[in-house]
Parts: sequence; C-alpha cells; structure tokens
Amino acid sequence: MKLARRLQAIKPSPTLALNSRAKALAAQGVDVVVLAAGEPDFDTPDYVKQAAVDALRAGFTKYTPTVGIPELREAICRKLEKDNGLRFTPEQVLVTAGGKQALYNFCQAVLDEGDEVIVFAPFWVSYPDMVRLAGATPVIVNTREEDGFAPDPDAIRRALTPRTRAVIINSPGNPTGAVYSRAALQGIADAVRGHDCLIVTDDIYEKLLYTGERLGISDVAPDLVPRLVVVNGMSKAYSMTGWRMGYAAGPRPVINGMQLVQDQSTSNASSIAQKAALAALNGPTDTIATMVVEYRARRDLFVNGLNALDGIRCRMPEGAFYAFADVRGLYGRSYKGKAITGSMQLSEILLDDFRVAGVPGDPFGAEGYIRFSFVTSREVLGKGLGRLNDLVQALR
Ligand SMILES: Cc1ncc(COP(=O)(O)O)c(C=O)c1O
Repeated sequence: MKLARRLQAIKPSPTLALNSRAKALAAQGVDVVVLAAGEPDFDTPDYVKQAAVDALRAGFTKYTPTVGIPELREAICRKLEKDNGLRFTPEQVLVTAGGKQALYNFCQAVLDEGDEVIVFAPFWVSYPDMVRLAGATPVIVNTREEDGFAPDPDAIRRALTPRTRAVIINSPGNPTGAVYSRAALQGIADAVRGHDCLIVTDDIYEKLLYTGERLGISDVAPDLVPRLVVVNGMSKAYSMTGWRMGYAAGPRPVINGMQLVQDQSTSNASSIAQKAALAALNGPTDTIATMVVEYRARRDLFVNGLNALDGIRCRMPEGAFYAFADVRGLYGRSYKGKAITGSMQLSEILLDDFRVAGVPGDPFGAEGYIRFSFVTSREVLGKGLGRLNDLVQALR
C-alpha cells in the first residue's frame, strides 16, 4: 500500500506503544507495574464532571464555533492574566482538542518546507515529529543534566539560522521534570531576542510543581510577548486526559492560521468537554493542590528509592510527574550472558522479565535514561522499586 512520503519521516509514539503493550499484558492478567503513562491516575474532579452532565442534559451537543465557545475563551484569557500575567483578548485564543492539537495546528499553520524549529533535548517525543509532519526540520539543542536540563544560550545561538521559525520551551518539562530558573529563561530570551522567530511555551505541567516558583519566559522577557504562543490544556492539571481539552493563545495572525487548519480538519473541540473545561477553569483550585501534595510524596519515595539502587541515578524533578533515571551505570553489566548496552534493551528486559514498564530515553533524544512516571499509588511505586532492585541484583 502506498502511503504519503511525509509519513516516512515520523515514527509511532514509543510512549503510547510501550504503554499499550504494558496495558495489553495487564489485560491478559499479567501483574505489570506500569510506569510508562503520561496521565494522572486521579479521577476528573466531580464539579467538572457535573458541568459536562449539565451540558448534556441541556442539549449542548451541537457544533460550536471552531475557535471555541466565547465564555471559555474569556475564561482562558482570565486564567492567562491571573496565573501568567499575560494579557490576551479572546480573539487571540483557540480552543483545541488537547494541547497536542494546539501544537500540531501551530506547526501546520506556521511552517514551510525548509523551515526549522529549535527543540531542546531531552524533549517530549511529539515535538520533532509534528515539525517533520509539517515538512520542516527540528533542530535539536542538547542540554545537560548538570545544568538542570536548561539549554546553553551559546548552543541556541549556534542553532539559530535565517530559517528558524520557532523555539519550543517546556518547563516543567517532559521527560525531565526540570523547571527552568530565572537565569536559564533569561539565557534563552537573550539568545533569541535578536532573531525574528516565534517562541512556543508549552505550559501543560505548570501546576504540577514541587519546589519554589515557576517563571515563564514572559516573566523575564516581557518584550518577547508579542511573539509568544502559549500552549496549555486541562489534561494534566485537572486529570482530564480523555476529554481532549487544550488551547493556544498568541499573535492574531498565528491564531487565525491555526483556526484555518482546525476549520478544515476537526472543527470545534467537543462542546461538552468545553463546558467541562469552563467549569475547571472557574472552579476551586484545591483539587490541584491535593494532587500535588500526593505527587510530591510519590516523587520523594520513588526518586529516593531509585537513587538507593546501585547503578541508577535520578535527579529530583522540580515539576511534572516523571522520574528521568540515568541508567548508564548499569551498562557493561550482563543479563543472561548478554551485556547491557542501551536503555531500549534495558526497558525490554525490565518489561519482559521483571514486569515494570518504563520508557527508554532514546525517543526523548536522551539515550542512557529511562523515564518512569510516578502517577500511580505509593504501593505500586514500592512494588516497582522492588522489581527494579531485582533487576539490578540479577545483573552480573
Ligand atoms: C510536554 C507535553 N505537551 C503537551 C502534551 C499534550 O497533552 P494533551 O494533548 O493531552 O493536552 C503532553 C502530553 O503528554 C506533554 O507531555
């Protein structure tokens, strides 16, 4: 079967693939500790569900404007002003089916063949492929764990070319959980300031913070706001992954372009989910706070547990819900007579023989690491640590 050439440049999402393999094993009755998912285990808050029930009962089940219902766009503007100090008008907001669609629409609306987008590694797996699907080229700037996974401004300067159309920032980041410091953000701002490109800030994990404050690029460089595209959504903060609710805010021409893409592809995000998102944004914040307290306890338990294992080292993440463990200390040891040489091989052994699902670092642009999500109960995390210990003990 002949398929489009553009598909040859992209790969299936390895996180989704590993997660479904682990879930398939679990469905067969195999006792798998699944630490591969990128979604909260908490249920969607009741007041959010109730708003969806009310919308259904009221017959709010028809098309809405592609851009989203006016009251939701207004609520998003209020949220951006309150939380991020950003002033956008509702016309600068597009409601999408998840942050993912916002990013996809952005790439389709802005990028041409030959254009480049700077992506910092380790990166969320979808960024480079979304750029490629638009015919453009992701330019990867590597970061170092000892710098808190923040990019070196000189490396950004070297990566910028006349073809650079955008830079993507993600703090707290997936897969590292790193939160950029003021200095790190200033470094990025200084590097891109003289260059005519857009800045995408993917703030999807902004509420999941364990230490100190989180700043955005707009806090350190207000002069760059006119070329800022904010992407966010309800999935992580409100445990609403399945509802598919996200949004983007940015310069009018960019948002209009993204709307055009959406007009001719999916039209509006679900009308019912929009009402639920409205309730989430207008509702109390204590459900988020409760989740964060629990995530912090899980983070401490799990990351400290990882660091107690000989050959595994893990930086304490300041945000999101991922432990990004450096497993290179296990390389060279052997399992069943075969030397360990990579994180993919290690992840496969871990799933097949020890029944723990994590995601190898290579697809995140960081070979040598395995990402474990800690969005599961402390009991399950403890069990996972026990099995990781079994693996370490089994290596020679
Ligand atoms: C960094 C990052 N951005 C965006 C998303 C998109 O999430 P959603 O489409 O559910 O809003 C994810 C989901 O895993 C993510 O990790």
